[in-house]
Amino acid sequence: MQEVPALKVGPLMDDLNGIKDAFLYVEDGKIMHYGAMSRMPETLKNMAENPVLQSGEVVDATGRYIMPAFCDSHTHLVYAGSREQEFTDKIKGLSYQEIARRGGGILNSAKLLSQTSEESLYASALGRAREIMSQGTGAVEIKSGYGLNPQDEIKMLRVIARLKESTPLTVKSTFLGAHAFPARYAEDHNGYVEEIINEMIPMIASEGLAEYIDAFCEDGFFSVEDTDRIFNAGMKYGLRPKVHANQMGFSGGVQVGVKYGAISVDHLESTGPEEFEALKNSDTIATILPGATFFLNMEYAPAKQMIEYGIPVAMASNYNPGSCPSGSLQFQMALACIAMKLTPAQALNACTINGAFAMGVDDILGAITPGKQANLILTKEIPSIDFIPYAFTTPFIERLYIAGKEI
Ligand code: NIG
Repeated sequence: MQEVPALKVGPLMDDLNGIKDAFLYVEDGKIMHYGAMSRMPETLKNMAENPVLQSGEVVDATGRYIMPAFCDSHTHLVYAGSREQEFTDKIKGLSYQEIARRGGGILNSAKLLSQTSEESLYASALGRAREIMSQGTGAVEIKSGYGLNPQDEIKMLRVIARLKESTPLTVKSTFLGAHAFPARYAEDHNGYVEEIINEMIPMIASEGLAEYIDAFCEDGFFSVEDTDRIFNAGMKYGLRPKVHANQMGFSGGVQVGVKYGAISVDHLESTGPEEFEALKNSDTIATILPGATFFLNMEYAPAKQMIEYGIPVAMASNYNPGSCPSGSLQFQMALACIAMKLTPAQALNACTINGAFAMGVDDILGAITPGKQANLILTKEIPSIDFIPYAFTTPFIERLYIAGKEI
């Protein structure tokens, strides 16, 4: 695929700029050069005479594709236990909100997490990090939000920091203390917002444990006013907002996100003219999470209309125990194509270059561009890129490279 601008918007989202019969040259973990084989420089052809190339590896990609590794800009992959009991409850008719009101959902995960040591939390999260790499992900944003008290939020963020150090993934960390009101603040929501603002944010910022701040701005969770106060406080400590917006209804989350220059507003199942207007010409990218929509059996976000309206759209897995226990972006691509009518090219751009933008790494990742880090997928022999979401359970990855190294 050819060099592309930093972010794909409108008709460009449907463009992969592919090159047939191409070469790609990587050095020191970076993409140095690429193009049609017929235009490969002599210096690269003559391996025997080139000491740098002699120590390198030549990979024959005949019949295969080289594409950017996925950038998964919204996950909650640090969590304890699992919630398949709630899965069964949902099948029997309970809604996500009803389960939450009974103390299940996020509060269930928070209880499990409080009983889990940092070490075993790290071990399970590391397993998921390895799993997403095997599915083609090279960069991931991970949120806290199952701690809901200073100690457990910090425990989660430290696990995320360890994943940053111990895996080849590029990891961005988001503080999501405003994910649910813990039981001790059931009757005092303002008290919890104060705890987030006065205790958690300063502690997290002083340890440098997060790059972003998030809130679940939704009826029954955090109001626009709560979100406004939390973002205001977070930004004073250099945390840029991301927001869970309009998943269950028209929450005002999009507008408060745009007001604070959020890097992304995520979910967007309920998005109408006012949200479109707010997003157009903003610095905020719309992030769709079709896996959660599928899992919760809801109406999908109007992603196709957003693209036609000129709103940049990213897509992420939302890997979490409650609304999408999967980190597969191949599956998300299939949902985007089948349920939201995106083309495979739009779906792929949404979870590569636009995903990179949604996690603030588009300067180094998300596309095949000279100077960018060589996070690349070498596919198996497949007939076309469209085959990836079409044959959505067929493994399509032969090798994953992160910073030029095979994983
Ligand atoms: O993005 N909606 C809020 N947060 C997650 C779900 C978290 C959970 O249920 O554990 C989401 O869907």
